[in-house]
Amino acid sequence: MLKVGVLVSGGGTNLQAILDAVDSGRITNAEVNVVISNNAGAYALERARAHGIEAVCLSPKAFPTREEFNEALLETIDSYGLDLIVLAGYLVTIPPAMIRRYRNRIINIHPSLIPSFCGVGYYGLKVHEAALARGVKITGATVHFVDEGMDSGPILLQKAVEVLPGDTPEILQRRVMEQAEWILLPEAIDRIANGQISLFGGHDL
Ligand code: GRF
Repeated sequence: MLKVGVLVSGGGTNLQAILDAVDSGRITNAEVNVVISNNAGAYALERARAHGIEAVCLSPKAFPTREEFNEALLETIDSYGLDLIVLAGYLVTIPPAMIRRYRNRIINIHPSLIPSFCGVGYYGLKVHEAALARGVKITGATVHFVDEGMDSGPILLQKAVEVLPGDTPEILQRRVMEQAEWILLPEAIDRIANGQISLFGGHDL
């Protein structure tokens, strides 16, 4: 059984998609052991508690220095003995020591087709604003391993979504979530849990 930890900052609809997929059997051989948020008010923590999953808040603001926060985050994650860490809308920079210790065991979902509209400054609605400003006809979502860069790690899965006339950033964000993110992230976890994507480099897609 793959032990999964999910890191969140906001509403947690991607977390919900994961929990629903475990319940419905679209994810097998995996269990979510802990949900960690930097934000005590994150609705994602409520979703975790409602599901009987441990919900932990670790805010950088609660620590005198960033280093102390980074150490506490790593200690907390280590204490759960996780096989896979899923970033599902987590807006805190992952400490380099954590990336080293969990190389190819941290995945992120990004709401565009990387390498478009990714990297520093591309998060949340800004991604969709940029896609609309550029006039692309196709966008989508990407699941990738996390490395030291921003959205630069090896790509695991991508799914395309159409941009339609009249789209606003909010409408497009919702379509990308419904048609790509909420499908792709559970699929990546299921494939990892069932050995179709290797956590140790090299994957068979
Ligand atoms: C999603 O768009 C995800 O791709 C991005 O942050 C958003 C999180 O939404 N990284 P939610 O908290 O899962 O609802």
